[in-house]
Amino acid sequence: MVKVVRLEPIAQETSVETNGNLLSVLINKDLDVLRECGGRGMCATCHVYVKQGMEALSSINRREQRTLEVITTCKTNSRLACQARVMGNGVVVELPPGMYINSIKDIEDLIGRRAEQNLLHPVTGQVLVEEGKLITRSMLKQIETTTSFSFGAFLSNSSDI
Ligand code: FES
Repeated sequence: MVKVVRLEPIAQETSVETNGNLLSVLINKDLDVLRECGGRGMCATCHVYVKQGMEALSSINRREQRTLEVITTCKTNSRLACQARVMGNGVVVELPPGMYINSIKDIEDLIGRRAEQNLLHPVTGQVLVEEGKLITRSMLKQIETTTSFSFGAFLSNSSDI
């Protein structure tokens, strides 16, 4: 059976097999989802807000719950697209605004430019650089000292891989 999922804010509908995950829906629509952890439920890069139809999704597992607790932009309607499976119709999802980066190097490459959209941390979803802000070397230093980008360490510290 095929279930219909609607994506906001691009206002497009797409279908997925029953029990298929939301991540496949986003990828099918060519949305740029970083999948930093490879779909293992351990990063923020496939975080979505479910605007409607939470009851039509599989329930939240322990790993997803733990990761959602780390995500700074988490709300009561947050899910990880790689963990949420579509069981019924009527699901409407929205991606958090901004662009996830996967290393400090990504910001370094943008020094001297204004951020075209919020730049987001791949594990916590924290806004590292706000949209419109000029990216400077001192800003980069500050991000480096206040934020851990050791994603590999984050994964290996996790007990249930
Ligand atoms: S891709 Fe990392 S949590 Fe879904």
